Amino acid sequence: MSIYCAQDLNQFMLAFNSPRKICCVEHLKTLTEFQTPGKANLINSTLDANRRTARLCQLSSRDRPSLKGLEALFMSKNIPIFSAKDQYPQIASELEAAVLEVLRSGSYIMGQKGKSLEQEIASICGAKHGIGVANGTDALILALWALDIGPGDEVITTPFTFAATIEAIMMRGAKPVFVDVDEKTFNIDVAAIEKVITPKTKAIIPVHLYGQSADMDPIMALADRYALKVIEDNAQAISATYKGKPTGSFGDAACISFYPTKNLGACGDAGMIVCNDDKLAERLRCLRAHGSKQRYFHEELGVNSRLDEIQAAVLLTKMAYLADWTTKRRAIAQKYFELLKNVPGIVLPNPGVKEDYAHVWHQYTVRVLSDNLAGASGNSTNGATTSMRQRVIDGLAKRNIGSMCYYPVPLHMQEAFAHYGYKKGEFPITERLADEVLSLPMFPELTDEDIQAVGQALTAIMNEQFATPVAVPTPTVSL
Ligand SMILES: Cc1ncc(COP(=O)(O)O)c(C=O)c1O
Repeated sequence: MSIYCAQDLNQFMLAFNSPRKICCVEHLKTLTEFQTPGKANLINSTLDANRRTARLCQLSSRDRPSLKGLEALFMSKNIPIFSAKDQYPQIASELEAAVLEVLRSGSYIMGQKGKSLEQEIASICGAKHGIGVANGTDALILALWALDIGPGDEVITTPFTFAATIEAIMMRGAKPVFVDVDEKTFNIDVAAIEKVITPKTKAIIPVHLYGQSADMDPIMALADRYALKVIEDNAQAISATYKGKPTGSFGDAACISFYPTKNLGACGDAGMIVCNDDKLAERLRCLRAHGSKQRYFHEELGVNSRLDEIQAAVLLTKMAYLADWTTKRRAIAQKYFELLKNVPGIVLPNPGVKEDYAHVWHQYTVRVLSDNLAGASGNSTNGATTSMRQRVIDGLAKRNIGSMCYYPVPLHMQEAFAHYGYKKGEFPITERLADEVLSLPMFPELTDEDIQAVGQALTAIMNEQFATPVAVPTPTVSL
């Protein structure tokens, strides 16, 4: 069905309100053709119907827009949470030339590009060696493997991270031991680590979540005292620093993800381990290539986990922009801080501006306080079944603004890890954060206008939630 007039649009709305959302996807695609007599094409020519559909489908039924709202939605600019598409045009010619060079070279795996990338990444992480692998998850598995962590061992980390951190521990047959996070930084609560160290503890994996370093000094001191290995999960924080030193330079090994949404993202999957120890680097190189140093001679069991030359070429090209992109991310974060500083019910992230924690803003993540804590009163016309955060997500989506919860279910409460016997209530800060965190659009190509639109939207939505705006205490930042 193509939509050419308001009547067709009405039919579309009926379809949209029906439970068969799949058909609404089709209808939305055809909405690009929507015209009304005497009016210009209502649809922005750059409309990405799929993105909008996804956004609309996130809305709870009561928040789906009216016909008028739908028109407004389709005429307003789409501000996604992240956009690889917006990054591409600025580097298109360089990127295409670099990829073409690889295609023409005939050298696709373990070539010169991969070696150069390993050196450059090791260098920005302040490490001696870089070992390219297929993705960040493999980087974690291989780092644990090369450090001889396996069945019977315990590895300490937090339940407030991406599942890959835990999967890697489990893939080695070791047991993840959780400690809660710090409410201000979202990173491992260093004061809680010592209490869970047992004779079986072999390692700590601090995760530098959202682009901010964990508190590495006390972690390294504990590791020293108890002879534990430290593997930094640096998937989200490449080029962040802690007390002037880059993340990735502290532990026995550090693992990086180049997943496309990362601050330095490939055009596909890729990852790397960095370390200082020559022997460890040699073993990692061997493990990632079938346990083989010399082709067809296998010293031990290994896997196939290599970073290919096309991804290396992409990443080398993008590396030249990383510092500039980080500066832009910091400027965007600064603008969000200014725009959102007085919004009721919103707790802003730890700014990390002090030299000790130079944040790289992989995510700009606010907390939307739960209704009971925030004291909101003017919200739920249909009963208070929708959480304050969901109402914010819906309100942003109605204005064509993307947002995301990283991560809505703490890992100790996930089905896949239930056999460890952790219970709801054991990690109260993580659990509360999982209910409240909301990441806003964050990528270097966001314009001032976009940032302003996000700030205004969030302010308007939150003011609507409070009949009389109340002053909500914002935790003091002690960093
Ligand atoms: C904290 C964390 N660790 C590990 C990973 C795994 O990286 P990859 O997706 O490249 O396997 C990610 C990726 O999102 C991550 O965010």
